Amino acid sequence: AILSRRIMPAATSSSDVNIWAIVPAAGCGSRMRSATPKQYLDLSGRPVIEHTLAALFAVPRITGIVVAVADGDVTWPNIAGCFSDRRLEQVSGGAERCHSVLNALEYLCATASGRDWVLVHDAARPCVQPADIDRLIDTCMRNTDGGLLGMPVSDTMKRVDTKGNVTATVDRTDLWHALTPQMFRAGQLLEALRQGIRAGKTLTDEASAMEAAGYAPRMVEGRRDNIKITVASDLQLAGFYLQRQHA
Ligand code: C5P
Repeated sequence: AILSRRIMPAATSSSDVNIWAIVPAAGCGSRMRSATPKQYLDLSGRPVIEHTLAALFAVPRITGIVVAVADGDVTWPNIAGCFSDRRLEQVSGGAERCHSVLNALEYLCATASGRDWVLVHDAARPCVQPADIDRLIDTCMRNTDGGLLGMPVSDTMKRVDTKGNVTATVDRTDLWHALTPQMFRAGQLLEALRQGIRAGKTLTDEASAMEAAGYAPRMVEGRRDNIKITVASDLQLAGFYLQRQHA
């Protein structure tokens, strides 16, 4: 992993635990059909990831942020330079999101306690609000298995075959969208991710690794404007949400 300076743990006694943030930002954004990775696209005059980092920096309880970026990424150093805040670090991303998160977590765990908490938040979710992050932190600190922001599904859900035909309607009463941040004990998440990757599981979020390891993360209802930039039209919607948040 490419490392810059090391964040020194801020906890002063063994009973203190730190809260760290990991931001996977090593995706190439193939679904956007854009040469620029989605975390660097312009959103209201700033790259998407700058909004994301600003939201995390607005939560004073977060001790440090580790960003996973692709090797050879020439855009990131300019953005990192904009944040003179000492709490920002970088590591190399991996082949998939889960590998990027694992790299960041291994870096953190070299100095942090396994009992520390880690919040994993997609670089591509710039509209997350500090109040939601605070609520997640408060809830997770009371729940040993950690938790995540989510929202109940409101549309009717269909299962569709490869030809594009509907094969079933799925009961939506207990279905939720999994958002980020997702918050877990660093040591537990590290072990769960290693296990999940070793077992060849498809891990599109951290909670799925925790679930596979036998944990039951707590679902915390979050704001519906915490969207992930995935297709080009999401940028306009995110711009509208940010404008409303800052109004
Ligand atoms: O592609 P997806 O929408 O799942 O990406 C979610 C987040 O994971 C994005 O912020 C993206 O940059 C990041 N990612 C990563 N490493 C990868 C793939 C995606 O850090 N190999």
